[in-house]
Amino acid sequence: MSKKLLIFGTGEIGRLAHFYFDRDSLWDVAGFVCDDEYFDKKELLGLPCVPLSKLSHFSSKKFAVHIALSYKNLNRNRKEKFLYIKEMGYETPSYISSKSSIWSHDIGDNCFILEDQTIQPDVKIGNNVVLWSGNHIGHGTHIADHVYIASHAVVSGHCSIGERTFIGVNAAIKDFTNIGEACFVGMGVNITKDCKNGDVILPEKTTIIDNETPLATKIKKKYFGDF
Ligand SMILES: CC(C)(COP(=O)(O)OP(=O)(O)OC[C@H]1O[C@@H](n2cnc3c(N)ncnc32)[C@H](O)[C@@H]1OP(=O)(O)O)[C@@H](O)C(=O)NCCC(=O)NCCS
Repeated sequence: MSKKLLIFGTGEIGRLAHFYFDRDSLWDVAGFVCDDEYFDKKELLGLPCVPLSKLSHFSSKKFAVHIALSYKNLNRNRKEKFLYIKEMGYETPSYISSKSSIWSHDIGDNCFILEDQTIQPDVKIGNNVVLWSGNHIGHGTHIADHVYIASHAVVSGHCSIGERTFIGVNAAIKDFTNIGEACFVGMGVNITKDCKNGDVILPEKTTIIDNETPLATKIKKKYFGDF
């Protein structure tokens, strides 16, 4: 790799991006960048750290930038920073874990795709998409730009997921389902119908039964005998 990599983001996601790029990619991580208002240290993980206002000192001919930010503001911050850094002319490489089963390489820029994914044939993944560990993305599904999918979601075949949507852990989406833009899919939901832009989809609430109630005693006796 002739260029070196700078990671935009000095928080937890930035440090994780360093971890994964450093151990499982051909990129040589050379340092960190952050917004000027968050610039409070000149070094992170033994590498130099610079404020965004000084990024232009690092030529886009010699450096690429990976934007590593959280889903705060429903992925709007990640989107804006990605577009800004692109506009500055930097290459924005994706990280794709070598420990995943990936059958479609139609994957955009600046994605962060962690271990144990199954990405089936004919899947299209846009720019700046995060797939945290262990998701199933079924054949023919299209994931638009700036989507964030937490862990162990099942997105069945031929679904579409709109820009900036967040999908929580253990969500399951039926095949041929369209989820709009900027939706919040809560953890553990089963989605069987299309969702409009901005929808919030929540599961039934979990019931927590106090230890002192007869039902708690009955259930524990039935399953564990003595407890
Ligand atoms: C939906 C979710 C945000 C709720 O979180 P929570 O911590 O239970 O939220 P709160 O207890 O603050 O609840 C906020 C309000 O929503 C209501 N609410 C929460 N879950 C609900 C549900 N399933 N159905 C209906 N109402 C619900 C609460 O009753 C509360 O209302 P109130 O203020 O009138 O009491 C959470 O379950 C979730 O899906 N988070 C995503 C987790 C995830 O995937 N993390 C991965 C990160 S990488």
